[in-house]
Amino acid sequence: MPVINRIAEFQPELAAWRRDFHMHPELAFEEHRTAGIVAGRLHDFGCDEVLEGFSGTGVIGVIHGQDGPNGRAIGLRADMDALPIEELTGAPWASQTPGKMHACGHDGHTTMLLGAARYLAETRNFSGSVVLIFQPAEEKGGGADVMVRDGIFERFPMSRVFGMHNWPGLPAGEFAWREGPVMAAVANLEIALQGKGAHGAMPHQGVDPIMVAAAIVQGLQSIVARNVEPVEAGVITIGHIKGGFTHNVIPDSVQMQGTARWFKPEVGAVLKERFLHMVPAIAGAFGATAECSFIRYCPPTVNDPESTRLTLAAARAVAGDARVSEMEKPTMGGEDFAFMLEAKPGSYIMIGGGRGTNDPGLHHPKYDFNDEVLSVGASYWSTLAEQLLPR
Ligand code: NI
Repeated sequence: MPVINRIAEFQPELAAWRRDFHMHPELAFEEHRTAGIVAGRLHDFGCDEVLEGFSGTGVIGVIHGQDGPNGRAIGLRADMDALPIEELTGAPWASQTPGKMHACGHDGHTTMLLGAARYLAETRNFSGSVVLIFQPAEEKGGGADVMVRDGIFERFPMSRVFGMHNWPGLPAGEFAWREGPVMAAVANLEIALQGKGAHGAMPHQGVDPIMVAAAIVQGLQSIVARNVEPVEAGVITIGHIKGGFTHNVIPDSVQMQGTARWFKPEVGAVLKERFLHMVPAIAGAFGATAECSFIRYCPPTVNDPESTRLTLAAARAVAGDARVSEMEKPTMGGEDFAFMLEAKPGSYIMIGGGRGTNDPGLHHPKYDFNDEVLSVGASYWSTLAEQLLPR
């Protein structure tokens, strides 16, 4: 069975909805317009319950099967937020907000779940309840964490929860699954170095924080190379250094930001302990001082084996066996759906959006969600619900 016929019929509408979201990107916890449209559509589809303003800008819809609520329920989750990136696609539906864009395809995720909501509310060919979770703030702010802490699973009891992300590196319409860890745990790194400014030609009169920063960048790489057991995965990247004004002035201070990634808690503990020890020690060795913090953002995204088998069956029913493959390895990317999977069994699947070679990747200013797969994703969600909640 390919795409569900009824969903294929409204594919052009899905594309129009997606492009509208794309034109109006909103950052974490500011998804007011997006949330308003989502809630309006859920009402129009005839959802049995629509709750707005959950965890700020979150929206939750509930659809009961033909025999009404019976205590069985599953959750399907999409994220709604955009990124602080200047869009360079040149598409007619490019972002109309300078400095903001849907560069991770959350416009497509939101639309695919809306497509499923429309179909499921119309057909109700299942028994129990489907909880549609439109989550704010995946990129920043940990919207999934906030929803869990605000009691989403108590307010809307469900046995399992599922997520999906588009993957430009995978051919359009294919699915990729993986049991166990699929995305990494993430921490944000912050460093503030304090030295002493001086003339660039008289460095002996100051303490050069730029040189200290260079030593810290080098030193931090030894943590993964020398402290983490070689067969385990870990990453430390410094992605942002800010300091100085011009050619010949040694500045007073330098700010640095970075990210750390891992899967196993013991690796995360090593990264944190060594980072917090090493940064002030290196700074101190040069006569500078450092304040640093290792701020945990999300745990690893871990797919429950049984839930993963269920997603596999739904993906195969939609795309065909040959177009559903096992991911060779997890990715060091992070995903805050991890918080929901910590609280509930479930699984997170990738849907291919690739158009060919050299597709811009996620978070690239030329990335654009592939509208072709909207009906495929909506069919996957609908099939998963019908298979997990059979009449
Ligand atoms: Ni994303």
